[in-house]
Amino acid sequence: MKPIRTAVFPVAGLGTRFLPATKVVPKEMLPIVDKPLIQYAVDEAIEAGIEHMVFVTGRGKDIIEDHFDIAYELQHTMEVRGKDVSILDGTRLKPGKSTFTRQQEPLGLGHAIWCARDVVGDDPFAILLPDEFMHGSPGCMKQMAAAYERLGGNLVCALEIPMEKTSSYGVIDPGKRDGAITEVKGLVEKPAPGTAPSNLILPGRYILQPEVMKILETQEAGAGGEIQLTDAMAQMIGKQPFHGVTFDGRRFDCGSKTGYIEANLALALDRAEMRDGIREMALRLLNE
Ligand code: G1P
Repeated sequence: MKPIRTAVFPVAGLGTRFLPATKVVPKEMLPIVDKPLIQYAVDEAIEAGIEHMVFVTGRGKDIIEDHFDIAYELQHTMEVRGKDVSILDGTRLKPGKSTFTRQQEPLGLGHAIWCARDVVGDDPFAILLPDEFMHGSPGCMKQMAAAYERLGGNLVCALEIPMEKTSSYGVIDPGKRDGAITEVKGLVEKPAPGTAPSNLILPGRYILQPEVMKILETQEAGAGGEIQLTDAMAQMIGKQPFHGVTFDGRRFDCGSKTGYIEANLALALDRAEMRDGIREMALRLLNE
């Protein structure tokens, strides 16, 4: 079986839910404590053994490319001042191991992924949606890569949420369940309230076979008038193995303000040097 070497990060979204913060700064660059969301996603991919990072960007997203480049002036100045530059380790992607391509029009997640087709080529690949922050050890993609070694085919991360929230997500029609693995019998994007086949949603982590690109090529617009990745994946069910993997870890929906603030609080509480101060501050604020 071919290992997963390439990850696609769709980062072309306008981030309107975080305006005015995201007027100039891409939402993927918003920090959780002190590291931008996009870097958590890249670190997660690297941990899973993925080597090549493909960013599907859009206008105004150039600083994402700068973030993963060398910052010679900053590094030099820090070194002259005797400051530790190791904090920047991990922000530089390996030479020749990243690609930035633009989705020129906001035609949907499926279209964004299709924009990476030439880079992905004929190999299976991963997709990580950076505003879905998956926090755990091992990371979500590493857990999925381990499942992929056993199962092959196509894998999506599967997450249980309250039924009444399913209409905002891609939803799984589940078959047999064996531990963390659920057979996927069907997929539906943003089902109307009351019609979801289950409360198992897609929280933005995928390992897919390259055939999905061919399907996306002719994919019609679906939910919300957008070309949906979920619709293209649904067409592969029955033709190739398709499973859901339940992530053993914590998920924060950083596409929402509440989820974003929760992620910041949770990660700050995880830091030994911040824990007591944050706890005290949170209790004080709650009592005000
Ligand atoms: C996208 C996908 C959806 C998935 C969600 C996860 O929706 O289309 O299937 O469940 O991300 O956050 P969006 O949030 O872009 O509307």
